[in-house]
Amino acid sequence: MTSPAVSPERLRMRLEALAAIGADPSGRGTSRFPYSPSHLEAVRTVGRWMEEAGLAAGCDPLGNLVGFRPGTEDWPAILLGSHLDTVPHGGMFDGALGVVAGVEVAQALREAKYPPRHALAVVGFADEEGHAFDLGMLASRCLVGEIPAGRFGTIRGRNGQTLAAAMAAFTPDLPRAAVPSRAGAYLELHIEQGPVLVQAGRRIAVVTAITGIARTTVVLEGEAAHAGTTPMRSRRDALVGAAEIVLAIKSLAEVVGPPTVATVGRLWVEPGATNVVPGRVEFTVDVRTPDASRLFDLCRRIDRAIGRVGQRHGLTPRIAAWDQRPPVPLDASVQQAIAQAARDLGHELLAMPSGAGHDAMILAPYVPAGMIFVPSRDGISHSPREWTEWEDAALGAAVLLHTVLVLDSRGPLDARMLPVASQAALH
Ligand code: GLV
Ligand code: MN
Ligand code: MN
Repeated sequence: MTSPAVSPERLRMRLEALAAIGADPSGRGTSRFPYSPSHLEAVRTVGRWMEEAGLAAGCDPLGNLVGFRPGTEDWPAILLGSHLDTVPHGGMFDGALGVVAGVEVAQALREAKYPPRHALAVVGFADEEGHAFDLGMLASRCLVGEIPAGRFGTIRGRNGQTLAAAMAAFTPDLPRAAVPSRAGAYLELHIEQGPVLVQAGRRIAVVTAITGIARTTVVLEGEAAHAGTTPMRSRRDALVGAAEIVLAIKSLAEVVGPPTVATVGRLWVEPGATNVVPGRVEFTVDVRTPDASRLFDLCRRIDRAIGRVGQRHGLTPRIAAWDQRPPVPLDASVQQAIAQAARDLGHELLAMPSGAGHDAMILAPYVPAGMIFVPSRDGISHSPREWTEWEDAALGAAVLLHTVLVLDSRGPLDARMLPVASQAALH
């Protein structure tokens, strides 16, 4: 038995191969949407890497890729993972790094003939970004039953397809598998996606908590009319109303102050013609702050601002129920294990909260969860410019591996139940 070590070359080769799946032909990043053909190809590809790493690869009915190896003892599983989908024109590290590094950990253990006593599972979650159905962390929320199977037929994507249909059509030709419900810890390596590590001149961070996130979609109904003959004062222009709301949301977030942020990221304008006054606009709102009461309060203020603007312009607003997720603290003892692993490798950690959402925030209420961050150049992510130095990606994978070793050396982790049993209904 040698000391297990990750292979930086293999990690890089696999991340580059994954980035090519769904790559934009004009070079503007990767668009790998959940349940799309490119997502299917990614699942098949990473499934093959899992097999090489000694993991039995399979896919659950939700589209989550699962690689599993039993432990030498009947101890609960240590779960490693992140997501395989991307935002439109996304980068090559967001999500992919945590999954590929999880596979790398398993392969390093296998090559060193180091059999962990805990079972090990690597998960590639299907839809974390929420691009297809406007629900963030969708597949992990389905996994824990927060979005019950009974709703899959009523959740509809922009293309009109239901979530149930998207999942049913997702057939990666892998055996059926399930995320182990008896789990001791969940670890997610991720890029920071912000500037904190770079500005601090550090290479590795442990995440203390994940920000609260609230999302909704808003429809503003006005009246489509002729752009040449309808006087300015007689218009019920839904886009003019939406524009005022976008600015109001920006001001409301600024009044609360950093790190509170609010974003309108998508607008659909109808009928969408040069010579027609927009009659209907739909848009998304995404609000984040690490304080739960501030989050709820800001949502209420945004609701009121939308009502006021609607009245002023003769528009009828419809605000969908807010999808509100309070901030989630990550497990102290897993944080300690990550800190010890980083120290063993000669690195002092930064401890910081995450402003981005992650599957870890969905699993954390059920299983002690921890996250490791590596730097993002210029703090940029959700962009083709997203970049992390290869040495930092490899360092993150090494800390992930050593965290598994630290946890495994502690004796049996408490067995927690991930409520994945509800999946049985889907088989
Ligand atoms: C995912 O990247 C999110 O923070 O929305
Ligand atoms: Mn991510
Ligand atoms: Mn993301």
